[in-house]
Amino acid sequence: MTRRPAVLMATTVLVGLVPATANAEEEGGGPPSPGAPGIGDPYYPLDGNGGYDVEHYDLDLRYDPGTDVLSGTATIEAEATQALSAFNLDFVGLDVSELTVDGRPATYTRAEGELTVTPERPLREEHAFEVVVTYSGVPATIQDPLIGPSGFIHTDDGALVIGEPDVAATWFPANDHPLDAATVDVAIAVPEGLEGISNGALEDAATEDGWTTWAWEAEEPMAPYLVTLAVGEFEVSEYEADGIRFWDAIDLDTTAVPFLPPPEDPAAPPPPAPEPVSVVDQVRAALARQPEIIGFLSGVFGPYPFSTSGGIVDAVPELRFALENQTRPVYAPGFFADPVLADTVVVHELAHQWYGDSVRLAAWQHTWLNEGFATYAEWLWLEQEGVATAQEQFDAIYTGAPPEFWQVVIGDPGPGALFDIAVYFRGAMAVHTLRQVVGDTAFFQIVEEWATSRAGEAVTTDEFTALAEELAGRDLDDLFQAWLFTPERPALG
Ligand code: TRP
Ligand code: ZN
Repeated sequence: MTRRPAVLMATTVLVGLVPATANAEEEGGGPPSPGAPGIGDPYYPLDGNGGYDVEHYDLDLRYDPGTDVLSGTATIEAEATQALSAFNLDFVGLDVSELTVDGRPATYTRAEGELTVTPERPLREEHAFEVVVTYSGVPATIQDPLIGPSGFIHTDDGALVIGEPDVAATWFPANDHPLDAATVDVAIAVPEGLEGISNGALEDAATEDGWTTWAWEAEEPMAPYLVTLAVGEFEVSEYEADGIRFWDAIDLDTTAVPFLPPPEDPAAPPPPAPEPVSVVDQVRAALARQPEIIGFLSGVFGPYPFSTSGGIVDAVPELRFALENQTRPVYAPGFFADPVLADTVVVHELAHQWYGDSVRLAAWQHTWLNEGFATYAEWLWLEQEGVATAQEQFDAIYTGAPPEFWQVVIGDPGPGALFDIAVYFRGAMAVHTLRQVVGDTAFFQIVEEWATSRAGEAVTTDEFTALAEELAGRDLDDLFQAWLFTPERPALG
C-alpha cells in the first residue's frame, strides 16, 4: 500500500395522543401539547426536538478571550409542526438571562441539555414563531480520551468550534440534529485586532469601542453541528474562483510535528520526539488547491452545492481532526506535516460538502454515507494524482486490516463506533465494490444522482441502496448486506 488515506484518527419521538375531540381553535392540529424532547434519533434520543422546524438562526455574539465568556443573543425563526403548549431547544451549560417567544416573555426550565420553553400562549400548528434567547457563560469543551478535545475549544488567543455529533448546543440554543437544517447568520464581536471567522460570506467587519464585529451569512441551510466559529489572530484571504467566493483563515503560529521515518533497527531505543515546526507554508499550499479540488470533485459528483468555500487552520496542537463545517472546513495542524495527508484531508472535507453537508443524514447511524463517500473521494483523487489506485487502497485494507475491523457493522455501528476507522475505510470499500459490480457508467451516474437529486435533503442508507438498484437496474441486496450489515470480512465477488 502506498499510503494510508487521510484520516488522522485511530478513531420515539413521543407524539402526544390526540384526543378525539379537537378544540375548535386548533383545527386539524389537535389541542396543544409539548413538543418531543428528541427528534427521534435512536442513537441520540435527546438530540434535536419535536414539534417545530427551524428556518433560520441569527447569532449575535461576543467572545472575550480574556475571560473565555461567550455572550449575546440567538434569534431562532421556526415553524410549529404541531400545536405546541411547550417546546425544547438543545442547550448545554450557558446561563439564560432572557427568553422571549414572538416578543413576549416565556417561562423556561432546564435539565440534561434540554431547555424547555413554555410560551405565554400555545402556538398553533404551522405558526411561524421567533424565539430570542439572551445568554452568556464559558462554553464547555468536550473531552474524549481517544479523540482529544472537540466542541468549543478555548485556544491561546481565542476559540475554535469543531465537533460532531453534539457541539452546537454547547454554544447556542438549537434544534441540534442534521434532520433540521437552517440558514445561519453569525455576527461575532471580538477585541479589536483579532479576527472572528464563521461559515458563508463575510458581509461586514466594523469596529466600535475596541470591539470588531465580524458578520457572516450562510445562505444555504446547514445542520447545526456544521456551524463553526474561530476567534484569534488569523491571516484571512478572500478570493473568487469558478464563481465560488473563498475565505481562508490561517493562524500563522500553526506548527506540527513531522512524521518520523520508521526506525531501521526496531530494537533500538525510540528517538526523541521531534520538535514542532511551522507548517504555514504547507497549509497555504494545500488551501491554494481548493479550487482545483472542487473542480475535480464537481466533475465526479456534480456542481459544488454552495456559493462560498474556504478553510480554517488554527494553532491548536492538541486537535486531532478535521471537520466538514459547511462552506468552511476546519483542519487540525497535524495533517499539514505530511504532503500527501495535507492534500487528501482537503479532498476529504470538501467531498463532505456534497456528502454530509448538502446531502445530510436523517439519523446518525447512516454516517458511513458521509465517511465512506468522503474517503472514496480521497481514493479517486489519489488515483488521478498517480499516487495509488482505488483498487490498491481497497486491496491493502482487504488484506491488511485486523479482525476487529471486520466486526464493525458500518450500516448500524452503534454510537460507540460511529466514527470507527471501519466506517471510513470499509465504507469506501463498499462504494468501490458497488463500482466494480455495476460498472463505471452506472456507478458515476449513481454518485452524481445521489448528490444532485438529494441536495439539501436528509437521507438514509435504504434510500441510497434503492437509488443504486434503480440506476443499476438490478438487485444489489447481497452486496449491501455483506458490506454494510455483516460483522465479518465480505468474500470477494
Ligand atoms: N467527520 C470528521 C471527518 O471525517 C471526523 C470527526 C468525527 C470529528 N468526530 C469528530 C471531528 C469530532 C471533530 C470532532 O472529517
Ligand atoms: Zn469525514
